[in-house]
Amino acid sequence: KMSSMDLEKLKMTGAGRAMAVLTSGGDAQGMNAAVRAVTRMGIYVGAKVYLIYEGYQGLVDGGDNIKLAHWQSVTNIIQQGGTVIGSARCKAFTTREGRLAAAFNLVKKGITNLCVCGGDGSLTGANIFRSEWSSLLDELVQKGRITDTLARQHGHLNIVGLVGSIDNDFCGTDMTIGADSALHRIMEIIDAIMTTAQRSDTVILNSGSTEPYIRLILCVFIPAYHQRTFVLEVMGRHCGYLALVSALASGADWLLIPEAPPQEGWEDCMCSRLEGSRITGSRLNIIIIAEGAIDRNGKPITSTYVKDLVVQRLGYDTRVTVLGHVQRGGTPSAFDRVLSSKLGMEAVIALLEATPDTPACAIGLSGNRAVRLPLMECVEMTKLVQTAMNEKRFDEAVKLRGGSFENNWNIYKLLAFEKPIQSGSNFSLAILNVGAPAAGMNAAVRSAARLALAQGHKVYAVQDGFQGLANGELFEMEWHSVAGWTGQGGSLLGTKRTLPNKHMEKIVETIIKFNISALLVIGGFEGYAGVLQLFEARSHYDELCIPMCVIPATISNNVPGTDFSLGADTAVNAAMEGCDKIKQSASGTKRRVFVVETMGGFCGYLATCTGIAVGADAAYIFEDPFNIHDLKTNVEHLTEKMKKDVQRGLVLRNENCHENYTTDFIHRLYSSEGKGIFDCRVNVLGHLQQGGAPSPFDRNFGTKLGVKATQWISERLTENFRQGRVIANSPDTACVLGLNRKVISFIPVTELKDVTDFEHRMPKVQWWFNLRPMLKMLAKYQTSFCEYVPGEIEHVTRPCGVD
Ligand SMILES: *[C@@H]1O[C@H](CO)[C@@H](O)[C@H](O)[C@H]1NC(C)=O
Ligand SMILES: *[C@@H]1O[C@H](CO)[C@@H](O)[C@H](O)[C@H]1NC(C)=O
Ligand SMILES: *[C@@H]1O[C@H](CO)[C@@H](O)[C@H](O)[C@H]1NC(C)=O
Repeated sequence: KMSSMDLEKLKMTGAGRAMAVLTSGGDAQGMNAAVRAVTRMGIYVGAKVYLIYEGYQGLVDGGDNIKLAHWQSVTNIIQQGGTVIGSARCKAFTTREGRLAAAFNLVKKGITNLCVCGGDGSLTGANIFRSEWSSLLDELVQKGRITDTLARQHGHLNIVGLVGSIDNDFCGTDMTIGADSALHRIMEIIDAIMTTAQRSDTVILNSGSTEPYIRLILCVFIPAYHQRTFVLEVMGRHCGYLALVSALASGADWLLIPEAPPQEGWEDCMCSRLEGSRITGSRLNIIIIAEGAIDRNGKPITSTYVKDLVVQRLGYDTRVTVLGHVQRGGTPSAFDRVLSSKLGMEAVIALLEATPDTPACAIGLSGNRAVRLPLMECVEMTKLVQTAMNEKRFDEAVKLRGGSFENNWNIYKLLAFEKPIQSGSNFSLAILNVGAPAAGMNAAVRSAARLALAQGHKVYAVQDGFQGLANGELFEMEWHSVAGWTGQGGSLLGTKRTLPNKHMEKIVETIIKFNISALLVIGGFEGYAGVLQLFEARSHYDELCIPMCVIPATISNNVPGTDFSLGADTAVNAAMEGCDKIKQSASGTKRRVFVVETMGGFCGYLATCTGIAVGADAAYIFEDPFNIHDLKTNVEHLTEKMKKDVQRGLVLRNENCHENYTTDFIHRLYSSEGKGIFDCRVNVLGHLQQGGAPSPFDRNFGTKLGVKATQWISERLTENFRQGRVIANSPDTACVLGLNRKVISFIPVTELKDVTDFEHRMPKVQWWFNLRPMLKMLAKYQTSFCEYVPGEIEHVTRPCGVD
């Protein structure tokens, strides 16, 4: 199904062509990365690339607004917010006259390939332009502005769209450019609000020490002066995505989105919910409202209305915060930078392959991969959502937004409010964290514990992983034990790397003592290896014949059975921010190359993704073997680059990429070779990569995985309950819960043995390896290329989103 193509072969396939890129509409973080990728890929394939400034306005005005780009034109823009080429809104382009001027400006420069990055309105405009192209040229010929020959040479305009929109409101793609960064901005603000208004819940502070006796367990009771409510209005005039995901990621008390207006009488419900949470000890309520929130009659619900309601009925101190433009601001998140780079490169290939018969396409993301989507079908599908809302078919609107949206909505409803506990199921579930702390672990514990409680199970938190399980360090959890956990970094339960095999007897004793009927392990490679050991010990101990589930959580992203582990996204963001600052530190000084060491064990995921996100010159990893010739080539490449007026270079090195070419070695090599041209500095990023607050993705992903794991465990418990006890002994009762492309799956730990490299602690095959050629191409790496896998053509069979 998938063809693969050598990047080397692509070289010069674009010779003689000219392409242009513009950004349009509301700006979105990540647009610069897209412009950079289109420019560099275009140049790489031998095409002339033009940057069009000020969006369609620049296209209409022509002149200096259309500039030939060079490799260096897009240097050092990847970390900047907004769009460096501008994205003015343009009335003129909506008229035929304006488009005539635009066509003239393009054809004069021989440009017949156009990449537009913008929202659905901008992309629809591009499609109109494309369908009118030949008639526009005819008119230009008639008016004598261009020759017939010129018109015939450029008879067709190829269009490709990149969806830049912070709302994530475009059907067909999992994510639009800018949406993830907007979520980062929103979560930063919510976190700030949370810290100004603490809860009176018991907060367990864990010093993280490996010695139990130095661990601090503090109970903090903050006196309750008054109840505070924050009404937070986020962007999304027609789409509740940002509001929904931020509510899920922050555990907000109430949520108002246009797709799912509240039932009649919601005001009473909301107020009693707020009161309920005050009674159970929460001092702070958060209400998230999408800009376009409406009631069931289509009448807008404003944030002031909600505020007045809370003040009048409950008398709480209530503030409204309207986030507005800040959501478009700031530096793009790692996800947006990698996404835009990937989509931008694919856009160029799509332009190269376009023929007059291929319909205009948009490049979207489908489960980690760039895909080509029929542009107009996606636009139509997107409009259907609005129609459904206008016609008050709200259930349908939620469905049309796609599986992911619907799933988020259901999970939000499931977790936000304390459920009347179902009659006791008599099952006990133990939850533990294993391995190094990773962001998102706490979110997973929270949602798993809450759902399990709602299903009537008894829930035990185990401190310090398998070690704590052996020592019987368990405490029972309640609904409120996990309040506010989604936004906390690290592991609140405490985590250790200890594997179970040396403590099997004692672990079994604990399982008997607490009558544990299921285990949920949230952790990294040790979590997987540990459950595998428990599974293999089932033949000796009947007590281990209980359902066991691993939720992958590690910054290294090296757990077999999943494309992503919890904590990896936060780690890439942390490493990226570190590198951004390192690069900036040298501005104004002389030329400098930084060698930055990242974590990750033997797994190069962190180094590779960070490399793409910061536009590194190279990223050395263990899986992509290199020798002294490669090092030499890179050094020479950097030396050349530095001679050409570039101030800074950045080289990443995974901590275990080579036993002899150490960070120090590479530093010395670069220092000697660069003598007189640049100096070289080393930075080891270290533990900052474990991240502070979890990224929105990790909060949300952790929350979802926690829910899925508990649902799966409950099903296995019921299935395997016979004669008064649980006997689960088949391999499919000990699984890793993973995300593979778009699908959440449970894969038995034994099945994963064959695909695991136990020596280097990682899967034998890693999906992200196809990001390597992209990193090298964008850095103008001179060595031979491995394979670049171009995007598949995806047909829109169902609306957007992952499950
Ligand atoms: C739980 O156990 C109690 C007594 O041991 C029993 O009465 C009750 O029916 C059990 N509940 C379920 C759901 O099996
Ligand atoms: C590193 O050097 C040692 C000798 O000191 C050698 O045995 C080993 O193979 C080298 N490692 C690699 C990966 O080349
Ligand atoms: C122990 O757990 C089983 C379910 O695995 C349950 O049926 C039984 O009632 C529990 N025993 C006690 C004493 O709680």
